[in-house]
Amino acid sequence: MFNVIVKDTYDEVSFEAFKVMKGVLNQEKPVLGLATGSSPVGLYKEMIKDHKENGTSYKDILTFNLDEYIGLPRDHEQSYWTFMHENLFDFIDIPEENVHVPLGNGDVEQNCIDYENELKKHVVDVQVLGIGSDGHIAFNEPGTPFDSLTHLMDLEEQTRQDNARFFDNDINQVPERAITMGLASIMRARKIIMIATGANKADAVKGMLEGEKTTACPASILQDHPDVTVVLDKEAASKLG
Ligand code: GLP
Repeated sequence: MFNVIVKDTYDEVSFEAFKVMKGVLNQEKPVLGLATGSSPVGLYKEMIKDHKENGTSYKDILTFNLDEYIGLPRDHEQSYWTFMHENLFDFIDIPEENVHVPLGNGDVEQNCIDYENELKKHVVDVQVLGIGSDGHIAFNEPGTPFDSLTHLMDLEEQTRQDNARFFDNDINQVPERAITMGLASIMRARKIIMIATGANKADAVKGMLEGEKTTACPASILQDHPDVTVVLDKEAASKLG
């Protein structure tokens, strides 16, 4: 079930997402599913502010990230491990051992199995998601089966083009593969916060909310989830009927 909220500005969108997150942070020992990309950065800023101003502690909180590029060293400036530290973990009191980000190096097939097994020991209380302009969530590109678990994914040209802005606008520097939680892994979360802003997300958002449920639009699987808060700006909501 979708609860759709449309706001004027990115800051307001982020604050709405934070309100849902705050409800989960108030629970005992919550497990957070986290995402990278520009969409959740404002939410992470609110979480850092709340930690500083209200003393919300992350000492007993576990986090699981959705995905990681294959082949970048962990400390590469564009790895998702680095992104999460620079945008959230370095500014809150989370112990490093509570942080889980898929590993995109070494025996990556085995890493998929290990990550899924670790994830399965817990229930994610809230999963943060963005959406790709092609309707992907995490790095589950169109065509990914709805029953997929953590797996390797060849990235679409469009996704690599969208993400080239982080790699000197050079698509050739964007890794060709990723390790990602699968769609079934994501659907196990108790609650989902989807954040989408900007006109380039409008088609994907329409597909997710009003389109046919189909693997051609991976985000459409969320139509089957009992608790999804979708926070949009007007541009991302512009194609909704
Ligand atoms: C990447 C990530 C996704 C993210 C998407 C949108 O491909 N793997 O998890 O949702 O991009 O990113 P952004 O929020 O920057 O638009």
